This record gives sequence, structure tokens and C-alpha cells, in this order.
Amino acid sequence: MDPDFWQKRWQTNQIGFHLDSFNDRLLSHWASATEGAAPGSRVLAPLCGKSLDLRWLRDRGHGVLGIELSPIACEAFFHEQGFAVERRVEGEGVVRWRGLGQGPGGGDGIEILQADIFALKDSDIGAADLLYDRASVIALPPSSRQRLVERLGAWLAPAARGLLVTIEYPEAEKQGPPFSVPAAAVAELCAGSFEATLLSREDLIERDGVGRWQLTSLHQLSFALRRFG
Ligand SMILES: C[S@@+](CC[C@H](N)C(=O)[O-])C[C@H]1O[C@@H](n2cnc3c(N)ncnc32)[C@H](O)[C@@H]1O
Repeated sequence: MDPDFWQKRWQTNQIGFHLDSFNDRLLSHWASATEGAAPGSRVLAPLCGKSLDLRWLRDRGHGVLGIELSPIACEAFFHEQGFAVERRVEGEGVVRWRGLGQGPGGGDGIEILQADIFALKDSDIGAADLLYDRASVIALPPSSRQRLVERLGAWLAPAARGLLVTIEYPEAEKQGPPFSVPAAAVAELCAGSFEATLLSREDLIERDGVGRWQLTSLHQLSFALRRFG
């Protein structure tokens, strides 16, 4: 998808992907997916939108770096969380939003890089030991998806761990985004960079009923990731 597609989605408030609560897969799988990670490890959250999950991760003691194209999403995240924020232009097309204020009511420990993820340099990212991907890989068509995973593999430390959440549905029934990224596609994407272990496969039609996409089958898949060391 070209950047304009997503900028327009934010400008017109077509953000059906956004959740008003923490992602339940994060709550149930984060501890096991990241077992053994050093306390306080920094989490990379690509294509983060204004996800509340950034706050959940920070409240567990992690430093968090989100990456997001839309300035509307970046501003909304800090505003809606009630966090003071510093906004610094770091280069052409790169703005760093940094939360301010200590304690649970402050935004300290959360940064969002407002940029096209494919335009970022390694030095923009810094050290990252953990990955949280919800609705990022599935937001991109196959060619960009592969480029994204290569970027993440380059940025994350050896043996970095993480959680990846995708969806799976019959591809003939809907055009992405979100795209169907089943277990076989995850294995192909990760080959050479990450080991991916399926943690759960949840039937979303059974859970939520047949939604507006009218799909005959829809599952949410969660994977523990481990970057090859
Ligand atoms: C499906 S949404 C998911 C947002 C978030 N992960 C969540 O769970 O709510 C995908 C997000 O990726 C952003 N995005 C799309 N392409 C991007 C790119 N090339 N670089 C950075 N962000 C991008 C979009 O603006 C959008 O907010």
C-alpha cells in the first residue's frame, strides 16, 4: 500500500483496526513469547498506529519504540493517553515523538518515530531486543511484507524475541489490507531471520460472529518469534 492510502485512512478516521482496549493476545502471550528477555528490554513496535498496547508494554517496564507513518496517529496516541510529549524533527520525513513525565501517568519510556519505516536508517532505531507486531505484517502486501521482516531482522539484536499476531482467511474472499498471513506464509517470511512458533490459533467467527467482511473462515494466529543469533 502506498503511504497515501494510510494517510487518508487516518485523515478520514477509517481506523477500524484500532482497538479501544489492550490486545488480548498481547496479554495472554507476551510473557511466554519473551521469556528470558532482560528486564527493561526495549521493544520495537512497527506500524504502531495509536495502539494502547504501547502503554501496556511501557507499564511492564519496557522502553518502547513505535514506528508510524501518520502524524495524526502519533499526536492522538500521546493526547489520548494524557501524556505530555516532545516532538523533534530529525531529518527529512522523520519526526521523533517522545513521551514526557515519570510514573504511570507520564509518557516517559515511549517514543514514536513518525516516518515511512522503509526510509529509516539503522541509526534512527538504536538498540532493540524485543518485537511486538500486531496488524503490521498483515497491513502490507507480500513484497513489502518481506522487506519489513528483513528490516526488523537487521534492527533487532541477535536472539531477540517477540510476538507476532496475524490473521488467516480464504484469500479469494477478500482483498487486503488486512491480508491473510497463514502459518506457512509466516514460516516463509521468517526463514533465515526468525524462528516462529505458533502459540495459538483462535476462531474469530466463533468468538465475534460473522463480521462485515462476511468471510467463511477467519482465524487469529499468534507466534513467538526468536531472531537467529
Ligand atoms: C492496520 S494498522 C495497525 C496499527 C496498530 N499496529 C494497531 O494494532 O492498531 C497499520 C498502521 O501502519 C501504518 N503504516 C502503513 N505503512 C507504513 C509505513 N510504510 N511506515 C510506517 N507506518 C506505516 C498505518 O498508518 C497504520 O497506522
